[in-house]
Amino acid sequence: MGITRRDELRFESAVLKTQQRNNTNTINEIYDADAFRDAGHRLVDFLADQLDSMKAGTNKQTLPWAEPTALLNSVDGWATAEANKLFEQVFQRCIRLHDPRYMGHQLMPPAPVTALAGMLTDFMNNGMGVYEMGPAGSAMEQWLIRRITAKFGFGEAAGGFMTHGGTLANLTGMLAARAKQCPGAWQKGEPSNLAVMVSAQAHYCMDRAARVMGWGGEGVIQIPCNDQFQMNVDLLEQTLAKATAAGKKVIAVCGTACTTSTGSIDDLQAIGRFCQRHNLWFHVDGAHGGAIAFSDQYRPLLDGIELADSIGMDFHKMLLAPSLTSAVLFKNGKDAYRTFTQDADYLLSAQQEEDPWHDVARRSFECTKTMLSLKVFSIVAIHGWDVFDKNVTRLIDLAASFADVIKDADDFELALAPQANILCFRFTGAEDDLNQVNASIRKTMIEEGQFYIVQTVLQGETWLRTTISNPMSTVAHFRELLERIRDRATD
Ligand SMILES: Cc1ncc(COP(=O)(O)O)c(C=O)c1O
Repeated sequence: MGITRRDELRFESAVLKTQQRNNTNTINEIYDADAFRDAGHRLVDFLADQLDSMKAGTNKQTLPWAEPTALLNSVDGWATAEANKLFEQVFQRCIRLHDPRYMGHQLMPPAPVTALAGMLTDFMNNGMGVYEMGPAGSAMEQWLIRRITAKFGFGEAAGGFMTHGGTLANLTGMLAARAKQCPGAWQKGEPSNLAVMVSAQAHYCMDRAARVMGWGGEGVIQIPCNDQFQMNVDLLEQTLAKATAAGKKVIAVCGTACTTSTGSIDDLQAIGRFCQRHNLWFHVDGAHGGAIAFSDQYRPLLDGIELADSIGMDFHKMLLAPSLTSAVLFKNGKDAYRTFTQDADYLLSAQQEEDPWHDVARRSFECTKTMLSLKVFSIVAIHGWDVFDKNVTRLIDLAASFADVIKDADDFELALAPQANILCFRFTGAEDDLNQVNASIRKTMIEEGQFYIVQTVLQGETWLRTTISNPMSTVAHFRELLERIRDRATD
């Protein structure tokens, strides 16, 4: 769809009017402290009011649905406002994760203090590649990593760093595996027959990582799952033997904790022991469920994670942080330094002492990165480490309660008992094709916007999928959701 000259003129004249009214077209005005103060106070007041009403669920609108092209066409009009009006207009069109009826994808409503941390982070714009460009951020990051690695049962030698997203954390884990198992790969290119074994339910970023590294689609060997959608670990030996016989060099196994579709947690003990026996790198994709390490009650679900060589984990799924806030952790911190051995004279001095923790770009795929550590540190410093335990435990408990509500309903069916906070179910009280019925229920609910739920396909069948991400959701909301689904099905 082309942008016409008329569209451009409309936007430009709107911007001009705003500039004339506010006199914001000079560099000095851009950096005007009073205007910033005023807009900032108004924005915080506005968001605080919205937080109250979202928590209470009073406006009953989680997703203000708009048809995509209509919304795009309306953007021209958004420039007419002052800064606070602009933000309000954007807010009105955003999906609201703080509403207890938000139960869709895996992002959680961030703790408000992290939004303030985000403001400081963006304002300071510390680049973090080298210590000089992010002294406070680097120190907080190292402080956090030392404590978080201990939560996973790693010892003194452990290390790691923060990064933007589980996808990048998992790719970095795979790059570290390659550096350890094929030391020549980084300099000389690589054998193209490398491979990693994953469960058939592994996140697609593992497939992408293998392709990015030049292993092609065959570089990801999928192991079928059991009826709980966990890797069938009984097939590990034969899968490895078959791959080796076919000329593959398997260098790693990735366990998933937990899977995206169903929240299933692989048997990490079994995978870890298998990797030890065969001298394979053991990576855990803990993007979602790594957070469970913080829950005293549910920590046993991750038994065996301490055997991992590397773990990717997100703070934005269950640990109260906004996206993207992730980390990649190594049992042996030195493995991270081996991954990228590059000279960049303008940035990283070759003269430095061995393994300096404070120049993060030595270990990370990223060069510039935001001060991610402040988001997590602000939660820990202001609310205490305990809130991670409380939040993770509550979300998993809530999912179990929702499962009970579904089990009590004759016209609903659970796909499997939830292991974490992801729950798949479907409406069965209809004569028609249940795949179509459930898909169309979900479509109607999206357009209606009161509840936000998603869907997935399991063994060819369409299921409604919820991630209980909002600790302010209650059993009453789950009942209300089922009632609404019934209504939509009848419609
Ligand atoms: C199991 C799993 N791994 C990796 C990812 C990717 O994480 P991110 O979205 O933080 O890149 C996800 C995201 O949903 C996931 O569920």
